Amino acid sequence: MTKKTIFSGIQPSGSVTLGNYIGAMKQFVDLQHDYHGYFCVVDQHAITVSQDRLALRQNIRSLAALYLAVGLDPEKATLFIQSEVPAHAQAGWMLQCVAYIGELERMTQFKDKSAGKEAVVSGLLTYPPLMAGDILLYGTDLVPVGEDQKQHLELTRTLAERFNRKYNDIFTVPEVKIPKEGARIMSLADPTKKMSKSDPNQKSFITLLDEPKQLEKKIKSAVTDSEGIVKYDKENKPGIANLLTIYSVLGNISIAELEQKYEGKGYGEFKGDLANVVVDALKPIQDRYYELIESDELDRILDEGAEKANRAANKMLKKMENAMGLGRKRK
Ligand code: AQP
Repeated sequence: MTKKTIFSGIQPSGSVTLGNYIGAMKQFVDLQHDYHGYFCVVDQHAITVSQDRLALRQNIRSLAALYLAVGLDPEKATLFIQSEVPAHAQAGWMLQCVAYIGELERMTQFKDKSAGKEAVVSGLLTYPPLMAGDILLYGTDLVPVGEDQKQHLELTRTLAERFNRKYNDIFTVPEVKIPKEGARIMSLADPTKKMSKSDPNQKSFITLLDEPKQLEKKIKSAVTDSEGIVKYDKENKPGIANLLTIYSVLGNISIAELEQKYEGKGYGEFKGDLANVVVDALKPIQDRYYELIESDELDRILDEGAEKANRAANKMLKKMENAMGLGRKRK
């Protein structure tokens, strides 16, 4: 049986968070054995909000190293940087010409990121067709993402179906894969908000590169409630529910077992143990990251990834151009 294809991208818009890891990256590592995987540092998405050029360059390299450090195997999967594969921007433009302004304006991420701003760049609105291009160029069957990307994925499916109907039936309509647990890790400072790498409040997120002391401090200062009972109740105790989710996923222990373990114990002990679990889970990732970050090995993997991705993406781009009637017919 031929292997199916997965695609996933992460924006280098800050330092990768525990949310990005639990919601998305952790799934990649498990899925890479059974699928052809394309994993992308989506730097063109990152410039839909203002970026410092040096920080962006650093975040791109850091994210690529982290993809590998969490366990992505370059022998199995293709790892590359979006701007090094021009077909993405080209496909994104064609799909903008298939998408309606109304459906782009309805995207909650656009509404959130443009709220209260006087000048909003048009790329923030047209981000979803670029994302659709990223996915559709590789004939992707499955897209593993966190819950916040579900709406963009639904739009990707709509655009693929619309293109297939209007021009030619060339796109696979991808399925979305959201993890059962940890699909939406919440901010440590405000557990009613999603944890985000571009949140200006450093205490709101944990990054994969935080040092043990920082991790401990952030977890100890995470906002909870005054009840003092370790119990999973998302509605009434969102802070503790969020910490239980993180503990459960990284510590490989069920939430029910955790509730039992901390029965009659206070938040101090619970948070202290959670800090140890997070430190232990991140240690091997950090060790591998620091071996890779300045290495030629990383550049070699990214060069090979760009070559493979360009080959695959250009084939689909030609099909898109033919379907739409762009350019000249070649003999
Ligand atoms: N808090 C989260 N919980 C679970 N999954 C999450 N993801 C993001 N935040 C959480 C998943 O991580 C993948 C990469 O996300 P992205 O970089 O494409 O952009 P995002 O979804 O907008 O993530 P951030 O961290 O909030 O970035 P900024 O701050 O730049 O907007 C996706 O699969 C996403 O679902």
